[in-house]
Parts: sequence; C-alpha cells; structure tokens
Amino acid sequence: MTSNAHIDLSKAVYVLNNAQHICILTGAGISAESGIPTFRDKQTGLWENFRAEDLANCDSFVRDPELVWSWYQWRRSEVKDKRPNPAHEALATWQAKAGQLGQTISLITQNVDDLHEQAGSQATHLHGELWQNHCSECGQTYEEAIDPAVTALVPCKSCGGKVRPSIVWFGEMLPQEPWQIAQQAAENCEVFISIGTSSMVYPAAGLAQSAKQNGATVIEINPHPTDNGLVDIQLPYPAGEILPELVAQLSQAKN
Ligand code: OAD
Repeated sequence: MTSNAHIDLSKAVYVLNNAQHICILTGAGISAESGIPTFRDKQTGLWENFRAEDLANCDSFVRDPELVWSWYQWRRSEVKDKRPNPAHEALATWQAKAGQLGQTISLITQNVDDLHEQAGSQATHLHGELWQNHCSECGQTYEEAIDPAVTALVPCKSCGGKVRPSIVWFGEMLPQEPWQIAQQAAENCEVFISIGTSSMVYPAAGLAQSAKQNGATVIEINPHPTDNGLVDIQLPYPAGEILPELVAQLSQAKN
C-alpha cells in the first residue's frame, strides 16, 4: 500500500472510531472476489448477447417469461457454489463485535446473493433475494426450493400462474420495509460506507445523499471510484483486501 493509502485508511479508522451509528451499503462489487461477476460486467457464454438490465425487467418477463426465468435459473446455478470472501467476513466480524465497540452497524445490500448471511451477517436486502420465488399473478410465496437445473416455467400451486424470482426488477417499487430500514439507517448514521456499487441505480444510490445531507462522513470502497462528489474518504482498493485491514485496525484501536 502507498503512503497516501495509509493516510486514507487512517482517516477512515479515525472517523469510524468516533462514530456510534454506521450505515453500510454494499453492491455487486463486494461479491466480485467470490467469483460472481458484477451487474455491469459484460455477460459471458450463452448470455453474452444480452444485457442484464434488459433481463432484470418486469416488461421482459411479460414479453418472454421463459427467457427471463431461464436466465435467473442460470444465474442461480452460477452462484450456488460461491462462498463469502474476506470482505463479507470482515463485515460479519465487525457486526459481531459492534456491541463491544459501542456501535450499531446497519448493513444494507443491493445484492440478491446470500453471501453476507453465509458469512454470519444480518443484511437488509433492497433488491430481493435470488433463492426466493413467488407467483407473478397471485403473489403467493412459492415455498419449495426450485433446482437451478429446472429451466421450464414452474406453475403456482394456488392459481397456476407463472412463478418468478423474488427480485426487484427495473420498473418495480422497492419492498417497503427494507427501504424504510435503509432510509432510517442512512439518515441517522454518522458514517456511511459505500462498498462495491456503481451508485447508478436509484433509489439505493440516494442513500449516500441522505446520509451526507444529515451530516455523515461518506467513505467509498471501490477500485474504480465513482464520480458523484459525495465521497469524503476514498479507499480505491478491492473490498476483500481493504476491509479486513480496516476492521482489524478498528478493533485494535478500541481494545
Ligand atoms: P454494478 O455492477 O453496477 O457495480 C459494481 C461496482 O463494483 C463497480 O463500481 C465496480 O468498480 C465495483 N467493484 C468491482 N470489483 C470490486 C471489488 N473487488 N471491491 C469493491 N468494488 C468492486 O453493481 P451495483 O452497483 O450493485 O439491481 O448495481 C446496482 C443494481 O443495479 C443491482 O442491484 C441491480 C442492477 O440493476 C436490480 O437488479 C434491481
């Protein structure tokens, strides 16, 4: 790490050691080192001619439900063996010792994978969860696990409608409860940390703005810093490298 990097890390450690309420927003970049491509990476293989934004879309499901369903089943098969990386683990360690540090850590994620949970964290999912399904017609939850190898559409057990992944698509509202939790956490935090997100998709991208308007310091962890003018401390490194170091230094300073 360069000397500037040490200074930025020390600044982050300093503000975090003086904060009680911390809000963390994660995006696809935090799972990149687990081998899950980010949302805006070009797709590969069978799906290389499709843009993820065109598939994660309620109009696309109406137009071509088989196509959208089989893409999600493919994504599930790609994600099913993936495991948390040191970034997820560092956040889980931090959450576990937050009480001891006199802190509350609100972890909000845009990711639909369950790597935060696998690492032992509690996370609020703004964009739904990849492994859950419900009926696109009557809304009933489909409880049974569906094998990712099943590419044919699955009928709802109540009404026979098409089962869909419980993911928030473009053109849909965020679920109310997670969004309220996220807004409150952002408005009430002293430090907001944005990790591995391009900050392009609203309303999630607006959380950093709310935090900043309410006086929070904004830290960004992203090897390709975003250009939004909100960030006070940039840590331009892969999350799996910088977060374990950051969390280790926090605990040292408090112990
Ligand atoms: P994106 O794919 O837009 O952005 C991923 C970000 O992660 C980029 O800014 C990368 O530079 C950064 N990144 C890559 N590797 C990293 C690493 N090792 N450590 C830290 N950062 C890294 O993904 P999101 O911002 O999560 O929504 O996308 C937001 C939403 O857009 C998604 O939740 C999805 C999509 O539309 C829905 O499906 C509703």
